Amino acid sequence: MRRSTPPRRSRSSTRIGVRGLGMYVPPKVLTNVDLEKMVDTNDEWIRTRTGICERRVAEPGTASSDLAYKAAQEALTQAELDPKDVELLIVATTTPDMLFPSTSCLVQERLGASSAVCFDLSAACSGSIFAIITAQQYLLTGRYRNALVVGAEVLSSFIDWTDRSTCVLFGDGAGACVLAPVRRGGILATDMGSDGSAAQLLYMPGGGSKHPPSHASVDQRLHFLRMNGTEIFKLAVRRMANSAKRVVKAAKLDPREVDCFIPHQANTRIIEAVAKWADLPMEKVYMNLQRYGNTSAASNLIALYEAVRDGVIQRDDHVVMVAFGAGLTWGSLLLQW
Ligand code: ACO
Repeated sequence: MRRSTPPRRSRSSTRIGVRGLGMYVPPKVLTNVDLEKMVDTNDEWIRTRTGICERRVAEPGTASSDLAYKAAQEALTQAELDPKDVELLIVATTTPDMLFPSTSCLVQERLGASSAVCFDLSAACSGSIFAIITAQQYLLTGRYRNALVVGAEVLSSFIDWTDRSTCVLFGDGAGACVLAPVRRGGILATDMGSDGSAAQLLYMPGGGSKHPPSHASVDQRLHFLRMNGTEIFKLAVRRMANSAKRVVKAAKLDPREVDCFIPHQANTRIIEAVAKWADLPMEKVYMNLQRYGNTSAASNLIALYEAVRDGVIQRDDHVVMVAFGAGLTWGSLLLQW
C-alpha cells in the first residue's frame, strides 16, 4: 500500500521545516582493506559493486542511544531549543538498545528532555523519513509545537562478520533534526509505502517473540541480519524511483527544479539507477556512502547534515529525500530549504 500527499497547508497556512540538524559517527574507521583481513573480499569488489570505501564501527558496549544522544544535542543547539522544551521525540532505529524501553526514552533521559512524548519508530532504512513525516503530522495538527527526530543505528552489533555478502555494506551512525513550523519553505510533499509480502528479503530472525534468544538461536546464527541482495537491489530501485517521482509531481515541480537529491545511502549503483528512473541528473545527487556505508535509519539525516554543512544545499533549494528498507518500506519527502 502507498499513500501520497499533495502539498498541503493547514488551516493556519503552516508548513513544517527543519530548524536544526545534528550528526554523530563513532571515531573508529573500518576500511575495505581492513575487511580483506576478516573475510574473503577485496577493496576493488566492494568499491565497484557498492561505492563504499570505509564505514564507522562503534566500540563494543556503545548503544544506539549513545550515538543518538550526541546527534540530538547538536540538532538542539543548532535549533536553539532547550532540551526541556522538546515536545515530541521520535527515534527511528532498527538496532534499539533493548526491546524495551524504547531508545527514545533513554535519549530523553540523557538529554533532560523531560517534557517530551517519546516513542521509537521501526521502518528499517526508511526510518528517518517515516519519523519526519510522522512528526510533521503531529506538528500540522498543532498537537505539538516542535519535534526532535533521530535516526540512530549500531548495525555492527547485528552483522555476521563472517558473511562477506552483508558485512561489507553497513556502518554505524546517527543523524538528528529539529522540526517546527516555518514561515518560508518547509515540507511541500510526502510519500510513504509498505509491502510486507517481501519481508523475508531482509530480516533478522532471532531475538523477538518468534525466536527468543536461546542456545539454539545463537548456534543457528539467528541474531544476525539476513538479506537477498539481488532482489532487494531490484525492488529498491523501482520503489525509490517511483516514490521520488510522486513527491516531485505532488509538489507540482518539474524534476529539473529539484536542486538536491538525497537518497538513502545504500549503494552507488542503486542510487544511479534511481536517479535515472526518476529523471534526476547525477550532478544533483548527494552521496557520502563512500565514507559511512549504509547506516540504515541514520543515512538520510547524516547525508542531509553534510550536504547543508558543505553548502551543497542553499536557502530556498528544493530537496528530495528518498529511502527504502526492510519491511519492505519506502518513503520520500520534498522540502524547500
Ligand atoms: N566480496 C567479494 N565477492 C563477493 C562479496 C564480497 N564482499 N559478496 C558477494 N560476493 C560474490 C558472490 O558470492 C557472487 O559470487 P558467485 O558469482 O561466485 O556466486 C558474486 O560476488 C556476485 O554476487 P552478486 O550478489 O550477484 O553481486 P551483486 O552485483 O548483486 O552485488 C550487492 C551484491 C552489492 C549486495 C548488491 O546485490 C546490493 O547492493 N544489493 C542491495 C543490498 C542493500 O543495499 N541492502 C541494504 C538494505 S536495503 C537498502 O538499504 C536499499
